[in-house]
Amino acid sequence: MADDVPEINPDIAVVIDVLRATTTISWALKNGADSIQVFADLDLLNKSAMQWDSDKRLMLGERGGKKLKGFDLGNSPLSVTKETVFGKRLFMSTTNGTKSLQKVQNAKHLFAMGLPNRKAVAEKIISLSSENVLILGSGWEGSYSLEDSLAAGALAEYLRNNCSSEVNIVNDELQASLALWRFWENNILECLKTATHGKRLTRIGDYEDDLKCCSELDCLEIVPTQVERGVIRAS
Ligand code: MLT
Repeated sequence: MADDVPEINPDIAVVIDVLRATTTISWALKNGADSIQVFADLDLLNKSAMQWDSDKRLMLGERGGKKLKGFDLGNSPLSVTKETVFGKRLFMSTTNGTKSLQKVQNAKHLFAMGLPNRKAVAEKIISLSSENVLILGSGWEGSYSLEDSLAAGALAEYLRNNCSSEVNIVNDELQASLALWRFWENNILECLKTATHGKRLTRIGDYEDDLKCCSELDCLEIVPTQVERGVIRAS
């Protein structure tokens, strides 16, 4: 999780926030957003956004699962439609996901992954033949989250099955994630609904369709890639 990331600069870092930041990022890029700039700090986000043409920018803000006042959009993957995001720079801040992306922005290669683009990100990792990959689950305000661990396990499983060289899992967290994935892989939506944040979203309002969207596996070929500090584009 973001608070526990060691001060290393891995070859590859993959940030996961299944519910919902990295799923939203993946869908926004699929739907033609030009780029996404991520922020932990809202003042900085505002300042940067104001320097951009107003008809070419959108501000996405979420805290505690809810859209922030004054922002164009919250953090729903269903809100980043082609009509809304095409050609635009998205300035985005969420409770945990954007914080995690900032935490590892010194990695040589930084990707954002949800379940819909698990295979695309995994194939990209395989193509880079790197020595080490850091998989970072965003969690919730410093604590564990079931859905991010599930996706970490899904990624590990894909890499183990498809890498021509041996894949070593070097910590118990990822080993446990793999077991979690094998337990839930045929019932992903149920896992997301069981997770604390899935329950939080359900409590807040009608998020059934968001949960479904976030639980879809391998349906997007987008690899959200950091191209300059804090700025993510499709590759
Ligand atoms: C986060 O960054 O914590 C989230 O993506 C929360 C959410 O909007 O569901």
